[in-house]
Parts: sequence; structure tokens; C-alpha cells
Amino acid sequence: MDDSTKLIASDEGGSNRACQVSRRRFLQAATVGGASMAMLTIPGCGSMMARTTPLPRQRVGSLSELVDDKPINIRFPDRKSRCVLVKLGVPAGGGVGPGEDIVAFSTACPHMGTPLLGAYNAKHKGMGPCRSHLTRFDLTRYGIVVSGHATESLPQILLEIEGDDIYATGIRGLLYGRSSNVALS
Ligand code: FES
Repeated sequence: MDDSTKLIASDEGGSNRACQVSRRRFLQAATVGGASMAMLTIPGCGSMMARTTPLPRQRVGSLSELVDDKPINIRFPDRKSRCVLVKLGVPAGGGVGPGEDIVAFSTACPHMGTPLLGAYNAKHKGMGPCRSHLTRFDLTRYGIVVSGHATESLPQILLEIEGDDIYATGIRGLLYGRSSNVALS
């Protein structure tokens, strides 16, 4: 594993909305081995472990332009990777801002890459259903799969705030169709 990559549990940050996994089940899963732990998925619970890739930070928006449930299309870490920045209006895992409710996710479905642009669901604070195989993702819980064919969470863009500016600083999960999250030229 590359030094710039680390493994974290999906409930890092202490959100009480995080997926709950028993100690017994975690230890059973951990014996599978380090490499596969990065891709481990608990049915109905999304990915338990996710690969996090720090990346050169890029400004992707401003606090003052965000309105609850009005997603803004962004691209990160390069022009080919479409993502969405959204203020959910409720605290979310990995959320930033005063309400810890600002999150960003890739809009390429992790199942087979179908674009999820326009698929934000304000009522459920989720993404989907994907038009190909109907997967739904929960954006308040690190993009975990709620239902459908996908087995991996929606890759989450790591954010930080500086003044009114919002910066993307990395990705949790692996962008669909790529062997790494490094920006393409
Ligand atoms: S491509 Fe989205 S669920 Fe299959």
C-alpha cells in the first residue's frame, strides 16, 4: 500500500449515524487480510473500511453560495471526475461547515459507472436510484449503499473549510474505473 494511502473505519469522526459493526464481526473480517480489508463490504451496511487518498487541495465552492438540498456540480480531482457538492441540512458523516452538513461525492455509480447527475434525493438525503440497476446511496452515512446492486459506497470527497471557501482535499473510496484516485492530466 502506498504511504499516501491509509485505511480508516467508516465511523471515523464519531458520527452517531455511522454504520454500526460489532467487535466480533469486525475481528472476523479483519482476519481476511490487509489488502482485502480495504474493499470489505457488510451487506446492508456498505463498505466498512474505505481507502482514503489525500490529494492536492482544490477550491470547489463557497459556504455563502450553498442552499440546503441544492447540489452544485463540481469536478475533482480532475476534469473527468464529476462530483456533486451539497448542503444536506442535517449532520452527515464527513460533513463540514457549521452544521456539519456539507458533503461531496463522486457522481459515477460505483457499480458500473452510470452517471448519477441529477439523482440527488432531498427527501432521503441520498443519491439515486441509479437508473441502471436502482442502487440508492445514503449521503448522511458516507455514501453507503441502501439498496440495489452496488456493493461499494459512493466515493466521498473529503472537504475542509477556510473562511468562506470550501476545499476538496482527498477521496474516501476509489473512483469508478480507476486504479487510483490520482488526478488524470
Ligand atoms: S450502474 Fe448504478 S446500480 Fe448498476
